[in-house]
Amino acid sequence: EQLPVELHKVRIVQKLFLKPIDERYAAIEKGGYNTFLLNTKDIFLDMLTDSGTNAMSDNQVASMLQADDAYAGSQSFYRMEAAAREVFGKQYVLPVHQGRAAENIISQVFIKKGQVIPMNYHFTTTKEHMELNGGKVLEIYTDEALKIKSDEPFKGNIDIDKLKAVFAEHGSDGVAFVRMEASTNLIGGQPFSMQNLRDVRAVCDENKSMLVLDASLIGENAYMIKQREEEYRNADVKDILNEMCSYAELVYFSSRKVSSTRGGAIVVNDEELYLKMRDLLVLFEGFLTYGGMSVREIEAMAVGLLETCDDTVISQSPSFVKYTVDSLDAAGIPVVTPAGALGCHIDAKGFLPHIPQRDYPAGALASALYIISGCRGMERGTISSVRNENGDDILADVELLRLAFPRRVFTLSQTMFVIDRVKWLYENRELVGGLEWVDEPPLLRFFLGKLKPK
Ligand code: F0G
Repeated sequence: EQLPVELHKVRIVQKLFLKPIDERYAAIEKGGYNTFLLNTKDIFLDMLTDSGTNAMSDNQVASMLQADDAYAGSQSFYRMEAAAREVFGKQYVLPVHQGRAAENIISQVFIKKGQVIPMNYHFTTTKEHMELNGGKVLEIYTDEALKIKSDEPFKGNIDIDKLKAVFAEHGSDGVAFVRMEASTNLIGGQPFSMQNLRDVRAVCDENKSMLVLDASLIGENAYMIKQREEEYRNADVKDILNEMCSYAELVYFSSRKVSSTRGGAIVVNDEELYLKMRDLLVLFEGFLTYGGMSVREIEAMAVGLLETCDDTVISQSPSFVKYTVDSLDAAGIPVVTPAGALGCHIDAKGFLPHIPQRDYPAGALASALYIISGCRGMERGTISSVRNENGDDILADVELLRLAFPRRVFTLSQTMFVIDRVKWLYENRELVGGLEWVDEPPLLRFFLGKLKPK
Protein backbone atom coordinates (compact mmCIF):
# COMPACT_ATOMS: atom_id res chain seq x y z
CA GLU A 1 0.00 0.00 0.00
CA GLN A 2 1.35 3.41 -0.99
CA LEU A 3 0.78 6.09 1.64
CA PRO A 4 0.60 9.72 0.57
CA VAL A 5 2.93 12.10 2.37
CA GLU A 6 2.47 15.78 3.17
CA LEU A 7 5.10 17.71 1.19
CA HIS A 8 4.80 20.81 3.37
CA LYS A 9 4.97 21.68 7.04
CA VAL A 10 2.21 23.10 9.20
CA ARG A 11 2.97 26.54 10.66
CA ILE A 12 -0.41 28.09 11.34
CA VAL A 13 -3.19 25.93 12.72
CA GLN A 14 -6.88 26.25 13.40
CA LYS A 15 -8.75 24.54 16.20
CA LEU A 16 -11.33 21.91 15.25
CA PHE A 17 -14.44 20.78 17.12
CA LEU A 18 -15.27 17.12 17.61
CA LYS A 19 -18.60 17.43 19.40
CA PRO A 20 -20.64 14.66 21.01
CA ILE A 21 -22.99 12.84 18.66
CA ASP A 22 -26.24 14.27 20.14
CA GLU A 23 -25.02 17.79 19.47
CA ARG A 24 -24.25 16.86 15.88
CA TYR A 25 -27.68 15.26 15.56
CA ALA A 26 -29.31 18.48 16.81
CA ALA A 27 -27.16 20.53 14.42
CA ILE A 28 -28.13 18.58 11.29
CA GLU A 29 -31.79 18.64 12.29
CA LYS A 30 -31.63 22.42 12.68
CA GLY A 31 -29.84 22.62 9.31
CA GLY A 32 -32.65 20.77 7.52
CA TYR A 33 -30.48 17.72 6.78
CA ASN A 34 -28.53 19.96 4.42
CA THR A 35 -24.78 20.07 5.11
CA PHE A 36 -24.59 23.57 3.56
CA LEU A 37 -26.56 24.84 6.56
CA LEU A 38 -24.14 23.66 9.27
CA ASN A 39 -21.95 25.98 11.31
CA THR A 40 -18.25 25.01 11.28
CA LYS A 41 -18.22 25.13 15.09
CA ASP A 42 -20.19 21.86 14.87
CA ILE A 43 -17.88 20.27 12.26
CA PHE A 44 -14.76 18.17 12.76
CA LEU A 45 -13.39 17.72 9.22
CA ASP A 46 -14.92 20.07 6.68
CA MET A 47 -14.90 18.19 3.38
CA LEU A 48 -17.77 20.18 1.85
CA THR A 49 -15.60 21.72 -0.85
CA ASP A 50 -12.20 22.96 -1.91
CA SER A 51 -13.77 26.28 -2.89
CA GLY A 52 -11.99 29.02 -0.94
CA THR A 53 -10.70 26.47 1.58
CA ASN A 54 -7.39 25.33 0.09
CA ALA A 55 -4.47 26.11 2.42
CA MET A 56 -2.62 29.34 1.69
CA SER A 57 1.14 29.25 1.32
CA ASP A 58 3.56 31.45 3.27
CA ASN A 59 4.28 33.36 0.06
CA GLN A 60 0.61 33.96 -0.60
CA VAL A 61 0.01 35.37 2.87
CA ALA A 62 3.14 37.51 2.59
CA SER A 63 2.03 38.91 -0.77
CA MET A 64 -1.22 40.18 0.76
CA LEU A 65 0.73 42.74 2.79
CA GLN A 66 2.01 44.55 -0.28
CA ALA A 67 -1.46 45.03 -1.75
CA ASP A 68 -2.05 48.33 -3.50
CA ASP A 69 -5.46 49.81 -2.70
CA ALA A 70 -6.76 51.72 -5.68
CA TYR A 71 -10.09 51.81 -7.46
CA ALA A 72 -8.32 51.92 -10.81
CA GLY A 73 -4.82 51.01 -11.96
CA SER A 74 -3.85 49.00 -8.86
CA GLN A 75 -0.37 47.48 -9.07
CA SER A 76 -1.85 44.36 -7.44
CA PHE A 77 -3.94 43.83 -10.56
CA TYR A 78 -0.96 44.19 -12.86
CA ARG A 79 0.96 41.59 -10.86
CA MET A 80 -2.00 39.19 -11.12
CA GLU A 81 -2.41 39.99 -14.82
CA ALA A 82 1.23 39.08 -15.43
CA ALA A 83 0.81 35.78 -13.56
CA ALA A 84 -2.39 34.94 -15.46
CA ARG A 85 -0.71 35.72 -18.80
CA GLU A 86 2.17 33.46 -17.90
CA VAL A 87 0.02 30.57 -16.66
CA PHE A 88 -2.82 30.66 -19.19
CA GLY A 89 -0.96 32.16 -22.15
CA LYS A 90 -3.66 34.76 -22.84
CA GLN A 91 -3.13 38.52 -23.03
CA TYR A 92 -6.46 39.94 -21.87
CA VAL A 93 -7.34 39.27 -18.23
CA LEU A 94 -10.85 40.18 -17.03
CA PRO A 95 -11.10 39.80 -13.22
CA VAL A 96 -14.41 38.70 -11.66
CA HIS A 97 -15.54 38.13 -8.09
CA GLN A 98 -15.87 34.33 -8.54
CA GLY A 99 -16.38 31.63 -11.15
CA ARG A 100 -20.12 32.02 -11.59
CA ALA A 101 -19.66 35.74 -12.29
CA ALA A 102 -17.54 34.72 -15.29
CA GLU A 103 -20.35 32.36 -16.33
CA ASN A 104 -22.84 35.20 -16.09
CA ILE A 105 -20.85 37.43 -18.45
CA ILE A 106 -19.94 34.65 -20.90
CA SER A 107 -23.56 33.45 -21.06
CA GLN A 108 -24.95 36.95 -21.58
CA VAL A 109 -22.46 37.78 -24.32
CA PHE A 110 -22.16 34.55 -26.27
CA ILE A 111 -25.51 32.73 -25.98
CA LYS A 112 -28.47 33.58 -28.21
CA LYS A 113 -31.89 32.23 -27.30
CA GLY A 114 -32.40 28.68 -28.59
CA GLN A 115 -28.72 27.90 -29.08
CA VAL A 116 -27.21 24.74 -27.65
CA ILE A 117 -23.95 24.43 -25.70
CA PRO A 118 -22.33 20.99 -26.02
CA MET A 119 -20.01 20.04 -23.15
CA ASN A 120 -18.38 17.09 -21.38
CA TYR A 121 -20.58 17.67 -18.31
CA HIS A 122 -22.46 20.58 -16.76
CA PHE A 123 -21.74 22.34 -13.49
CA THR A 124 -24.68 23.58 -11.40
CA THR A 125 -24.10 27.34 -11.66
CA THR A 126 -22.92 27.07 -15.28
CA LYS A 127 -26.14 25.42 -16.38
CA GLU A 128 -28.36 27.94 -14.56
CA HIS A 129 -26.59 30.90 -16.20
CA MET A 130 -26.78 29.32 -19.63
CA GLU A 131 -30.46 28.52 -19.28
CA LEU A 132 -31.27 31.99 -17.90
CA ASN A 133 -29.87 33.32 -21.18
CA GLY A 134 -31.98 30.98 -23.32
CA GLY A 135 -29.31 28.33 -23.99
CA LYS A 136 -29.66 24.56 -23.76
CA VAL A 137 -26.93 22.40 -22.25
CA LEU A 138 -26.07 19.19 -24.14
CA GLU A 139 -23.91 16.70 -22.29
CA ILE A 140 -21.99 14.54 -24.73
CA TYR A 141 -19.80 12.44 -22.49
CA THR A 142 -18.48 8.99 -23.41
CA ASP A 143 -20.13 5.70 -22.46
CA GLU A 144 -17.60 5.20 -19.64
CA ALA A 145 -18.24 8.58 -17.98
CA LEU A 146 -21.07 7.57 -15.66
CA LYS A 147 -19.83 4.10 -14.74
CA ILE A 148 -18.98 4.16 -11.05
CA LYS A 149 -16.28 1.49 -11.23
CA SER A 150 -13.99 1.91 -14.20
CA ASP A 151 -10.36 1.78 -15.31
CA GLU A 152 -10.83 4.43 -17.98
CA PRO A 153 -8.26 7.14 -17.18
CA PHE A 154 -10.15 9.96 -18.93
CA LYS A 155 -13.83 9.78 -18.03
CA GLY A 156 -14.04 13.55 -18.60
CA ASN A 157 -13.60 13.21 -22.37
CA ILE A 158 -16.17 14.47 -24.86
CA ASP A 159 -17.50 11.83 -27.26
CA ILE A 160 -16.21 13.22 -30.58
CA ASP A 161 -18.85 11.46 -32.71
CA LYS A 162 -21.60 12.95 -30.55
CA LEU A 163 -19.98 16.39 -30.92
CA LYS A 164 -19.97 16.04 -34.72
CA ALA A 165 -23.61 14.95 -34.57
CA VAL A 166 -24.51 18.08 -32.56
CA PHE A 167 -23.03 20.29 -35.30
CA ALA A 168 -24.71 18.22 -38.02
CA GLU A 169 -28.09 18.66 -36.31
CA HIS A 170 -27.88 22.28 -35.13
CA GLY A 171 -25.40 23.81 -37.60
CA SER A 172 -22.68 26.24 -36.55
CA ASP A 173 -25.21 28.99 -35.91
CA GLY A 174 -27.21 26.81 -33.57
CA VAL A 175 -24.22 26.15 -31.33
CA ALA A 176 -23.23 29.03 -29.03
CA PHE A 177 -19.84 27.46 -28.26
CA VAL A 178 -18.37 24.18 -27.03
CA ARG A 179 -17.46 23.97 -23.33
CA MET A 180 -14.87 21.70 -21.77
CA GLU A 181 -14.66 21.45 -17.99
CA ALA A 182 -11.26 20.46 -16.70
CA SER A 183 -11.90 17.61 -14.20
CA THR A 184 -15.70 17.28 -14.56
CA ASN A 185 -16.85 18.25 -11.09
CA LEU A 186 -20.26 16.57 -10.83
CA ILE A 187 -19.24 13.13 -12.07
CA GLY A 188 -16.31 12.58 -9.78
CA GLY A 189 -13.64 15.11 -10.75
CA GLN A 190 -12.72 13.07 -13.82
CA PRO A 191 -10.11 14.54 -16.22
CA PHE A 192 -10.06 14.69 -20.02
CA SER A 193 -6.99 13.87 -22.10
CA MET A 194 -4.95 16.28 -24.20
CA GLN A 195 -5.70 14.12 -27.24
CA ASN A 196 -9.43 14.52 -26.64
CA LEU A 197 -9.03 18.29 -26.27
CA ARG A 198 -7.14 18.39 -29.60
CA ASP A 199 -9.92 16.37 -31.24
CA VAL A 200 -12.55 18.75 -29.84
CA ARG A 201 -10.50 21.68 -31.20
CA ALA A 202 -10.43 20.10 -34.65
CA VAL A 203 -14.24 19.76 -34.68
CA CYS A 204 -14.55 23.40 -33.54
CA ASP A 205 -12.24 24.46 -36.38
CA GLU A 206 -14.29 22.54 -38.96
CA ASN A 207 -17.41 24.28 -37.71
CA LYS A 208 -15.88 27.69 -36.95
CA SER A 209 -17.05 27.40 -33.37
CA MET A 210 -15.50 28.81 -30.21
CA LEU A 211 -14.05 26.51 -27.54
CA VAL A 212 -14.52 27.64 -23.93
CA LEU A 213 -12.48 25.99 -21.18
CA ASP A 214 -13.64 26.00 -17.55
CA ALA A 215 -10.25 25.89 -15.83
CA SER A 216 -11.47 25.83 -12.21
CA LEU A 217 -9.68 22.49 -11.62
CA ILE A 218 -7.18 22.69 -14.46
CA GLY A 219 -4.10 22.09 -12.29
CA GLU A 220 -5.31 18.65 -11.23
CA ASN A 221 -6.45 17.79 -14.78
CA ALA A 222 -2.98 18.74 -16.06
CA TYR A 223 -1.36 16.65 -13.32
CA MET A 224 -3.46 13.62 -14.30
CA ILE A 225 -2.54 14.10 -17.97
CA LYS A 226 1.07 13.88 -16.84
CA GLN A 227 0.34 10.70 -14.88
CA ARG A 228 -1.96 8.98 -17.36
CA GLU A 229 -1.10 10.14 -20.91
CA GLU A 230 2.13 8.58 -22.16
CA GLU A 231 3.19 11.55 -24.30
CA TYR A 232 3.29 13.83 -21.26
CA ARG A 233 5.02 11.58 -18.78
CA ASN A 234 8.11 13.80 -18.58
CA ALA A 235 6.41 17.16 -19.17
CA ASP A 236 6.05 19.90 -16.55
CA VAL A 237 2.52 20.54 -15.28
CA LYS A 238 3.00 24.19 -16.23
CA ASP A 239 3.63 23.32 -19.89
CA ILE A 240 0.72 20.89 -19.97
CA LEU A 241 -1.59 23.51 -18.50
CA ASN A 242 -0.37 26.08 -20.99
CA GLU A 243 -0.93 23.73 -23.92
CA MET A 244 -4.47 22.93 -22.69
CA CYS A 245 -5.31 26.63 -22.69
CA SER A 246 -3.81 27.15 -26.15
CA TYR A 247 -6.67 25.09 -27.68
CA ALA A 248 -9.42 27.31 -26.24
CA GLU A 249 -10.29 30.83 -27.40
CA LEU A 250 -11.70 31.63 -23.97
CA VAL A 251 -10.61 30.30 -20.58
CA TYR A 252 -12.40 31.14 -17.34
CA PHE A 253 -12.00 29.94 -13.79
CA SER A 254 -13.01 30.19 -10.17
CA SER A 255 -9.91 31.34 -8.38
CA ARG A 256 -11.48 30.04 -5.16
CA LYS A 257 -10.47 26.66 -6.52
CA VAL A 258 -7.58 27.08 -8.92
CA SER A 259 -5.39 29.45 -6.94
CA SER A 260 -6.50 28.82 -3.35
CA THR A 261 -8.01 32.25 -2.73
CA ARG A 262 -11.01 34.25 -3.86
CA GLY A 263 -12.19 35.66 -7.17
CA GLY A 264 -11.83 34.44 -10.70
CA ALA A 265 -11.14 35.63 -14.21
CA ILE A 266 -11.86 35.30 -17.91
CA VAL A 267 -8.79 35.28 -20.18
CA VAL A 268 -8.67 35.63 -23.97
CA ASN A 269 -6.17 36.57 -26.68
CA ASP A 270 -8.59 38.02 -29.19
CA GLU A 271 -9.25 41.73 -28.73
CA GLU A 272 -12.71 41.49 -30.26
CA LEU A 273 -13.76 38.86 -27.70
CA TYR A 274 -12.30 41.00 -24.94
CA LEU A 275 -14.23 44.09 -26.04
CA LYS A 276 -17.50 42.16 -26.17
CA MET A 277 -17.18 41.35 -22.45
CA ARG A 278 -15.37 44.40 -21.10
CA ASP A 279 -18.30 46.72 -20.48
CA LEU A 280 -20.43 44.05 -18.80
CA LEU A 281 -17.52 43.41 -16.47
CA VAL A 282 -17.57 47.02 -15.32
CA LEU A 283 -21.34 46.84 -14.88
CA PHE A 284 -21.53 43.60 -12.87
CA GLU A 285 -18.16 43.21 -11.18
CA GLY A 286 -16.51 46.59 -10.71
CA PHE A 287 -13.65 48.35 -12.43
CA LEU A 288 -11.37 46.41 -14.79
CA THR A 289 -8.51 46.34 -12.29
CA TYR A 290 -10.36 44.73 -9.38
CA GLY A 291 -13.48 42.93 -10.67
CA GLY A 292 -15.20 42.63 -7.28
CA MET A 293 -12.12 41.34 -5.45
CA SER A 294 -10.14 43.00 -2.70
CA VAL A 295 -6.57 43.87 -3.67
CA ARG A 296 -5.28 41.46 -1.01
CA GLU A 297 -7.12 38.60 -2.67
CA ILE A 298 -5.74 39.68 -6.04
CA GLU A 299 -2.17 39.51 -4.70
CA ALA A 300 -2.71 36.04 -3.23
CA MET A 301 -4.32 34.95 -6.48
CA ALA A 302 -1.23 36.04 -8.43
CA VAL A 303 1.05 33.91 -6.25
CA GLY A 304 -1.47 31.05 -6.14
CA LEU A 305 -1.77 30.85 -9.93
CA LEU A 306 1.97 30.28 -10.23
CA GLU A 307 1.95 27.74 -7.37
CA THR A 308 -0.81 25.80 -9.16
CA CYS A 309 1.81 24.99 -11.80
CA ASP A 310 4.22 23.54 -9.24
CA ASP A 311 4.23 19.75 -9.57
CA THR A 312 4.76 19.29 -5.80
CA VAL A 313 1.88 21.56 -4.80
CA ILE A 314 -0.54 20.18 -7.35
CA SER A 315 0.20 16.53 -6.54
CA GLN A 316 -1.06 16.84 -2.96
CA SER A 317 -4.83 16.78 -3.25
CA PRO A 318 -4.90 14.00 -5.92
CA SER A 319 -2.59 11.77 -3.86
CA PHE A 320 -4.81 12.01 -0.75
CA VAL A 321 -7.92 11.50 -2.87
CA LYS A 322 -6.35 8.43 -4.47
CA TYR A 323 -5.40 6.95 -1.12
CA THR A 324 -8.96 7.38 0.18
CA VAL A 325 -10.60 6.04 -2.98
CA ASP A 326 -8.29 3.02 -3.15
CA SER A 327 -8.77 2.22 0.57
CA LEU A 328 -12.57 2.36 0.36
CA ASP A 329 -12.61 0.45 -2.93
CA ALA A 330 -10.45 -2.29 -1.37
CA ALA A 331 -13.01 -2.55 1.46
CA GLY A 332 -15.78 -3.16 -1.10
CA ILE A 333 -17.36 0.26 -0.65
CA PRO A 334 -18.74 1.73 -3.89
CA VAL A 335 -16.68 4.79 -4.89
CA VAL A 336 -16.02 6.45 -8.25
CA THR A 337 -12.89 4.97 -9.80
CA PRO A 338 -10.33 5.79 -10.94
CA ALA A 339 -9.70 8.49 -8.33
CA GLY A 340 -10.17 11.95 -9.82
CA ALA A 341 -9.60 15.51 -8.71
CA LEU A 342 -11.16 17.41 -5.80
CA GLY A 343 -12.43 14.60 -3.63
CA CYS A 344 -13.45 11.04 -2.98
CA HIS A 345 -16.89 10.41 -4.47
CA ILE A 346 -19.00 7.73 -2.77
CA ASP A 347 -21.75 6.13 -4.86
CA ALA A 348 -24.83 6.56 -2.68
CA LYS A 349 -27.02 4.28 -4.81
CA GLY A 350 -24.60 1.42 -4.23
CA PHE A 351 -24.00 2.36 -0.59
CA LEU A 352 -27.71 2.64 0.28
CA PRO A 353 -29.51 0.36 -2.18
CA HIS A 354 -32.60 0.30 0.06
CA ILE A 355 -33.24 4.04 -0.47
CA PRO A 356 -34.96 4.84 -3.80
CA GLN A 357 -33.35 7.67 -5.76
CA ARG A 358 -36.41 9.89 -5.34
CA ASP A 359 -35.73 9.83 -1.57
CA TYR A 360 -32.29 11.39 -2.13
CA PRO A 361 -29.78 8.73 -1.02
CA ALA A 362 -26.75 11.03 -1.49
CA GLY A 363 -28.31 13.68 0.77
CA ALA A 364 -29.19 11.01 3.33
CA LEU A 365 -25.63 9.66 3.23
CA ALA A 366 -24.17 13.15 3.70
CA SER A 367 -26.33 13.68 6.80
CA ALA A 368 -25.60 10.21 8.21
CA LEU A 369 -21.84 10.53 7.79
CA TYR A 370 -21.92 13.92 9.50
CA ILE A 371 -23.92 12.54 12.43
CA ILE A 372 -21.62 9.57 13.01
CA SER A 373 -18.27 11.30 12.38
CA GLY A 374 -18.49 15.09 12.37
CA CYS A 375 -17.17 15.02 8.77
CA ARG A 376 -19.07 17.22 6.38
CA GLY A 377 -19.34 16.20 2.72
CA MET A 378 -21.50 17.55 -0.11
CA GLU A 379 -24.48 15.96 -1.80
CA ARG A 380 -23.87 15.73 -5.55
CA GLY A 381 -26.98 13.92 -6.74
CA THR A 382 -30.68 14.57 -7.23
CA ILE A 383 -30.93 17.28 -4.57
CA SER A 384 -28.36 19.17 -6.69
CA SER A 385 -30.53 18.55 -9.78
CA VAL A 386 -33.73 20.39 -10.83
CA ARG A 387 -37.39 19.61 -11.60
CA ASN A 388 -38.83 19.26 -15.12
CA GLU A 389 -41.80 21.20 -16.59
CA ASN A 390 -44.22 18.83 -14.81
CA GLY A 391 -42.63 19.47 -11.45
CA ASP A 392 -40.99 16.03 -11.22
CA ASP A 393 -37.42 15.61 -10.06
CA ILE A 394 -34.95 15.00 -12.87
CA LEU A 395 -33.06 12.13 -11.25
CA ALA A 396 -29.31 12.79 -11.34
CA ASP A 397 -27.15 10.59 -13.60
CA VAL A 398 -25.05 9.71 -10.58
CA GLU A 399 -25.93 9.97 -6.91
CA LEU A 400 -22.71 10.94 -5.13
CA LEU A 401 -21.48 12.03 -1.74
CA ARG A 402 -18.36 14.11 -2.35
CA LEU A 403 -15.70 14.24 0.34
CA ALA A 404 -13.49 17.10 -0.82
CA PHE A 405 -9.79 17.30 -0.13
CA PRO A 406 -8.91 20.98 -0.18
CA ARG A 407 -5.23 21.27 -1.05
CA ARG A 408 -2.80 20.75 1.83
CA VAL A 409 -5.47 21.00 4.57
CA PHE A 410 -5.89 17.49 6.00
CA THR A 411 -3.23 15.19 7.40
CA LEU A 412 -2.92 11.47 6.81
CA SER A 413 -4.32 10.59 10.25
CA GLN A 414 -7.37 12.75 9.61
CA THR A 415 -7.77 11.02 6.27
CA MET A 416 -7.57 7.64 8.00
CA PHE A 417 -10.24 8.79 10.48
CA VAL A 418 -12.62 9.55 7.62
CA ILE A 419 -11.93 6.21 5.94
CA ASP A 420 -12.58 4.40 9.22
CA ARG A 421 -15.91 6.20 9.79
CA VAL A 422 -17.12 5.55 6.22
CA LYS A 423 -16.35 1.86 6.73
CA TRP A 424 -18.34 1.85 9.98
CA LEU A 425 -21.28 3.53 8.27
CA TYR A 426 -21.16 1.00 5.43
CA GLU A 427 -21.36 -1.87 7.92
CA ASN A 428 -24.34 -0.15 9.56
CA ARG A 429 -25.95 1.23 6.41
CA GLU A 430 -29.41 -0.14 7.19
CA LEU A 431 -29.67 2.57 9.89
CA VAL A 432 -29.96 5.23 7.17
CA GLY A 433 -33.33 6.22 5.67
CA GLY A 434 -34.40 8.62 2.89
CA LEU A 435 -35.25 12.34 2.99
CA GLU A 436 -38.10 14.57 1.82
CA TRP A 437 -38.44 18.33 1.34
CA VAL A 438 -39.66 20.71 4.00
CA ASP A 439 -38.65 23.91 2.23
CA GLU A 440 -37.55 23.76 -1.41
CA PRO A 441 -36.23 26.94 -3.07
CA PRO A 442 -37.02 27.20 -6.80
CA LEU A 443 -33.42 28.02 -7.87
CA LEU A 444 -30.26 26.07 -6.91
CA ARG A 445 -32.30 24.37 -4.18
CA PHE A 446 -29.37 22.36 -2.83
CA PHE A 447 -27.72 25.43 -1.33
CA LEU A 448 -30.50 26.62 0.99
CA GLY A 449 -33.24 23.99 0.95
CA LYS A 450 -34.39 22.11 4.06
CA LEU A 451 -35.38 18.46 4.33
CA LYS A 452 -36.40 15.90 6.95
CA PRO A 453 -36.24 12.11 7.35
CA LYS A 454 -39.02 10.46 5.37
N1 F0G B 1 -17.01 25.80 -12.56
C1 F0G B 1 -16.65 24.71 -11.86
C2 F0G B 1 -16.10 23.53 -12.58
C3 F0G B 1 -16.75 24.71 -10.46
O1 F0G B 1 -16.38 23.63 -9.78
C4 F0G B 1 -17.27 25.85 -9.80
C5 F0G B 1 -17.45 25.87 -8.36
C6 F0G B 1 -17.65 26.95 -10.58
C7 F0G B 1 -17.49 26.89 -11.96
C8 F0G B 1 -18.24 28.18 -9.96
O2 F0G B 1 -17.26 28.92 -9.30
O3 F0G B 1 -18.07 28.92 -6.91
O4 F0G B 1 -16.33 30.54 -7.71
O5 F0G B 1 -18.67 30.79 -8.42
N2 F0G B 1 -17.39 24.83 -7.63
C9 F0G B 1 -17.50 24.80 -6.17
C10 F0G B 1 -17.54 23.38 -5.65
C11 F0G B 1 -18.61 25.64 -5.64
O6 F0G B 1 -17.73 23.22 -4.44
O7 F0G B 1 -17.33 22.43 -6.40
P1 F0G B 1 -17.61 29.83 -8.00
